[in-house]
Amino acid sequence: MEPVSGRWPVDFGQAELLRNLDAEDGWLLTVDGVAQSYVDRADLTRLEFDYVRLIADVVDHLTPGPLSTVHLGGGACTLARYIAVTRPGSRQLVIEADAALAELVRTSFGTSGFRLRVGDARTELPRLRRGESDLVVADLFEAAVMPVHVTTLEWVQEVQRLLRPDGAYVVNVADGRTLSFARAQVATLVAAFEHVVLLADPSVLRGRRFANLVLAASTTALPVAALTRRASRAAGRARLVTGDELQIFTGGAAPITDATAREAPRPPPDLFRH
Ligand SMILES: C[S@@+](CC[C@H](N)C(=O)[O-])C[C@H]1O[C@@H](n2cnc3c(N)ncnc32)[C@H](O)[C@@H]1O
Repeated sequence: MEPVSGRWPVDFGQAELLRNLDAEDGWLLTVDGVAQSYVDRADLTRLEFDYVRLIADVVDHLTPGPLSTVHLGGGACTLARYIAVTRPGSRQLVIEADAALAELVRTSFGTSGFRLRVGDARTELPRLRRGESDLVVADLFEAAVMPVHVTTLEWVQEVQRLLRPDGAYVVNVADGRTLSFARAQVATLVAAFEHVVLLADPSVLRGRRFANLVLAASTTALPVAALTRRASRAAGRARLVTGDELQIFTGGAAPITDATAREAPRPPPDLFRH
């Protein structure tokens, strides 16, 4: 089980593993040139992408101890590896739709600390045990675009059923300019959960560039003050938006439903390419 630099055809395009020459044992996984995951085998807690760091900040502030987690969208399973190290004894399931990619990741990096199941996240969700997860993370992209069937209120309600009463749902979305998709995603989460926070780079919140935004939701209060402090100290300097300010951010956007879902935004050409 050793990663090897190279390219492989996978179900959603062409996967590539690139060794980071500036790190001891760091590997970038791309699909069709779009970065999906970065794994530092010498230090699994080293998170290269800003949005993954923001998700990890939320994870770090959940109840101490082992977590029961479901990761929807695997890539190279960076977050599951992070939690396996930072929360030893956690019970983790990763669901990945791309069978060929899952096999590449399994043979290159192993699956120590989690189970990796091949399947479409929306199809698999109803099969999972209800009310047992502390954390559900959705990071679902086909190359650079989110599949719409995992953005709707019906989907979010299905996710909600997996969570314990104090469990958290964290989702990565990508948007830019008018942020109309991100606003609708916030409205979708607000329709299901009492507490929702948005974490993103201030320039992204101003619509100046296309990038990732992280949303966290729960039926119990989220640690807003601690997350705000952590975000402002991060290398990427994110801002946390919640409460009335988040309400204003939605700008009256309606929740996305199975009936109204449209294609999620596509990034400008070459933005996420490596
Ligand atoms: C950005 S990567 C996830 C990275 C991951 N969060 C990590 O920690 O490394 C997105 C993944 O979502 C997967 N994906 C896309 N659509 C999916 C679906 N409907 N069900 C399950 N996985 C899906 C892609 O194949 C890709 O591997």
